[in-house]
Amino acid sequence: MKDIIEIFIRDPGLAYHISSKIPFPYRFELEGRGSPGFKRRGDYQGIIELDKPDKELLKMPLSEALLKRRSIRRYRSKSIDFKVFSTFIYFVAAVQGYKYGYPLRTYPTAGALNSPEVFIHIDNVELIDKGIYHYNPFSHSLELIRSGDFKYEVYKASLEQSQVLESAFNILVVGVYDRTYSKYGLRAYRYVLEDVGHIGQNIYLVATALNLATVCMGAFIDDELSTIFQLNDGEFPLLLYSVGYPVSP
Ligand SMILES: Cc1cc2nc3c(=O)[nH]c(=O)nc-3n(C[C@H](O)[C@H](O)[C@H](O)COP(=O)(O)O)c2cc1C
Repeated sequence: MKDIIEIFIRDPGLAYHISSKIPFPYRFELEGRGSPGFKRRGDYQGIIELDKPDKELLKMPLSEALLKRRSIRRYRSKSIDFKVFSTFIYFVAAVQGYKYGYPLRTYPTAGALNSPEVFIHIDNVELIDKGIYHYNPFSHSLELIRSGDFKYEVYKASLEQSQVLESAFNILVVGVYDRTYSKYGLRAYRYVLEDVGHIGQNIYLVATALNLATVCMGAFIDDELSTIFQLNDGEFPLLLYSVGYPVSP
């Protein structure tokens, strides 16, 4: 006990990692069954139904998308086509089916509990007004949380990273901790971060295949993003992605 406290004082992350190891001999006590979640906001101000995804737009071979995938931070000031945006977000995050009542996506999540939620700051997407939205992965629609121009606020919250100013939209991937904690207890924090990593690679690969550009950002002021995106307690902003058409194709 004394050892772990000493480690905690030096490095709380390492202390957590050690404390959340599954003991050997194996003894893994689940907290419960867990509830697959979805954030149903009662307070959104409007809904935008997105277009059906167009598979034809995603013809790039997987091997090419993997090899082309790069973090790109300069974008053209060009509006993203509504069909392209709809196809992008569908393949990144839409619900694709169910197993035992748990929604399944194009990325895996621990216990199929779907800990990540996707929020989007729209700046320059055809047919969608500027604002902060939550993506509804069941109905493939955007729920308007706040309308208006939030680009400068997101830029300030992301430690003034210039890609935010140039982007057409920014995606905030949020971890909903309780969802995974309800089944996995102390081990949940690992799983929430790991879930988010999987959706992140989707964002990169789908953007690449659609000839869009993106970069992942972990450097930001958590509380400021939480305020801008109106997150609730227990909803952690984990990664921010700027997206736009690349300056050079
Ligand atoms: C967890 C994580 C956090 C990152 N944070 C930032 C960031 O705040 N700003 C940034 O410009 N790039 C950020 N990146 C992008 C990395 O710098 C980039 O992936 C790395 O340089 C490798 O380049 P590549 O993605 O083009 O292969 C982050 C990447 C990851 C995975």
